[in-house]
Amino acid sequence: MSTDLSEIGDIPAVWTRRHLLGLEDFSAEELNCILDAAAMFKEATGGCKQKLSVLVGRTCANLFFEASTRTRTSFSLAARRLGADTVDFTATGSSLSKGETFIDTAKNIEAMGVDVVVVRHRTPGTPHLLAQQLDCSVINAGDGAHEHPTQGLLDILTIREHRGNLAGLTVALVGDIAHSRTARSNIWGLRKLGAHVIVCGPSTLVSPLWRELGVEVSHSLDAILPRCDVLNLLRIQFERQSTRPFPSVREYAHLYAMNRERLERAKDDILILAPGPINRGVEVTPDVADGPHSVILEQVTNGLAIRMAVLWLICGAG
Ligand code: CP
Repeated sequence: MSTDLSEIGDIPAVWTRRHLLGLEDFSAEELNCILDAAAMFKEATGGCKQKLSVLVGRTCANLFFEASTRTRTSFSLAARRLGADTVDFTATGSSLSKGETFIDTAKNIEAMGVDVVVVRHRTPGTPHLLAQQLDCSVINAGDGAHEHPTQGLLDILTIREHRGNLAGLTVALVGDIAHSRTARSNIWGLRKLGAHVIVCGPSTLVSPLWRELGVEVSHSLDAILPRCDVLNLLRIQFERQSTRPFPSVREYAHLYAMNRERLERAKDDILILAPGPINRGVEVTPDVADGPHSVILEQVTNGLAIRMAVLWLICGAG
């Protein structure tokens, strides 16, 4: 089933970017431009289920050098929902194993007529390097612990859908802030749209230096919980840690897991987000993750809408 293209307007004048590398230098108007476009695509396609033909003739390449389920799948689906061709590259099984460099790999894929590259890499700044080296557009799908802009945007869209407005809300990012690219993208976006942001977790994972980004720092979930409108529960990234930052997973869960008992002490309408994947029983108990306050799967659907919006804006402006 296809949607009438007249429902999709022109690219808004506020949008002038060729790349999406991070949210740090985005204005509130640019953030709202993406959020509004995502809402429009969601509405026009029955929840991102129907196909459009706004990107027919365009090609989107996913270059993932780190594992992904949600981001890679949704970028691929978003491109196809808009009528674009897609290429899914994974490092495993590629000619990287024969010694081909990262830049040569990207340039060879671009040479096949690619309009936009979506890249995930463990090294911060990789998308910025590609934007300098390639002629096509580049979208950051997560670079080390730096930024994950479309994750920040889909989190914000999910909150906006439930609350209408970000201004005045208190949003706590709880967990492994030190290794989280999602934390940075959330902080830039949420603050720009007027939310008060708290970063909360053990002192080994939440440095006081985060205050320099304009956020409140807390090491006690129980102390901040009554003030929070939204909790975004960030995964403990065991794979990025050389030493364990807390005595045991059980100890961490005792102090920071969102569970039924904590829910009873939270605001009645608190929203529970988690970027996924989640460690069930570590950041959140299964009853809360699957319960009525959780919007975790709505985040996933909104990821598709945000990625449709970003691809449309980037390819349209390119
Ligand atoms: N939230 C997120 O980026 O999920 P994936 O690692 O599965 O893409």
